[in-house]
Amino acid sequence: VNGAAYDPAVAVAGSADRARGPFVPSHSDLGWHGDRELDEGLVDLAVNVRAGTPPQWLHDRIRAADVAAYPDAAAAVAAVAARHGRPVEEVLLTAGAAEAFVLMARALRPTHPVVVHPQFTEPELALNTAGHPVHRVVLAPPFVLQAGDVPDAADLVVVGNPTNPTSVLHSPELLRSLARPGRVLVIDEAFADCVPGEASSLAGARDVPGLVVVRSLTKTWGLAGLRVGYVLADAATVLALRAAQPRWPVSAPALAACVACTGASALAEAQAWAVHVAADRAVLIGALDAIPAVRVVPQAMASFILIEVDTDRDVRAALRDSGYAVRRGDTFPGLGPHWLRVAVRDQATSIRFATALKEILCPTSTT
Ligand SMILES: Cc1ncc(COP(=O)(O)O)c(C=O)c1O
Repeated sequence: VNGAAYDPAVAVAGSADRARGPFVPSHSDLGWHGDRELDEGLVDLAVNVRAGTPPQWLHDRIRAADVAAYPDAAAAVAAVAARHGRPVEEVLLTAGAAEAFVLMARALRPTHPVVVHPQFTEPELALNTAGHPVHRVVLAPPFVLQAGDVPDAADLVVVGNPTNPTSVLHSPELLRSLARPGRVLVIDEAFADCVPGEASSLAGARDVPGLVVVRSLTKTWGLAGLRVGYVLADAATVLALRAAQPRWPVSAPALAACVACTGASALAEAQAWAVHVAADRAVLIGALDAIPAVRVVPQAMASFILIEVDTDRDVRAALRDSGYAVRRGDTFPGLGPHWLRVAVRDQATSIRFATALKEILCPTSTT
């Protein structure tokens, strides 16, 4: 429901699930993440981490970190600041992007926080847990945000860009138009570096009032277990968030990774991968578009795509039987059981996956 106040009864009105009745995930479903889909022997299309990571050179840098001493974040903060053209006062390193959401929920005192869905669920969970009940703006397909969708009263707005799970990339102009005095505008850029040239990123934007950009090293570098990310915001907001952090929140190996991943050769590697992802994604989308019962959310820009399958069969379970783990869509507000998120992998894997999906959805056409 573009721009409407969240009401479970109308949460999916206007989405493609209208005919099937509302699907409202329970609070606990918001804590579901792609890694829960995995099992031995399954091809992993559920977790959006770059395959084959972390690279050996990064492993080596992480292992070389001095873990005997308390961590000193200065070099990593300076490296991140330099990468985004900001002063060090505007950088806060965190134990992953996930920590950033918890810090915001604890340190800021929004009276009308808004989360634009479907999107990553941890920001909403963090806000609710800290006692700031979230107002949902639930977008309908094709999940493109319009400026008027966000209520004027919102004093904290969370948008993913590109958005997990829709893969939609909102324009920087649209995002800028959401900013206003008295409002914190949080852009979750956990997947920004899988878009060539980091198009639409506001990481370096210092002229947008209340802007808070959240970044992660998890996805491109395969560091989910290390816990490292960062916040880019005005110095006062950084100070407020830091005050909510425990001492030494980011370990020495994570700081080493941060320095390594912001270096010129790492950025070049990420950019080359982003270009590669775009080509691989086109092959995956082409193969899925050829299946009549599958609709791919258009204009995907990230390392995953969102699809809707036109069947009442449990396609996710059938795919598991065929050897593929995909990410369920029904735990994302605004989506239902017919939605699946699929990671972009190498082209041969994508073709095999599409063939398996077609066999499930159109068994007669392949016999
Ligand atoms: C959109 C989005 N933001 C943030 C995160 C959390 O990233 P991190 O591992 O840095 O905490 C995830 C992880 O799945 C995500 O999908």
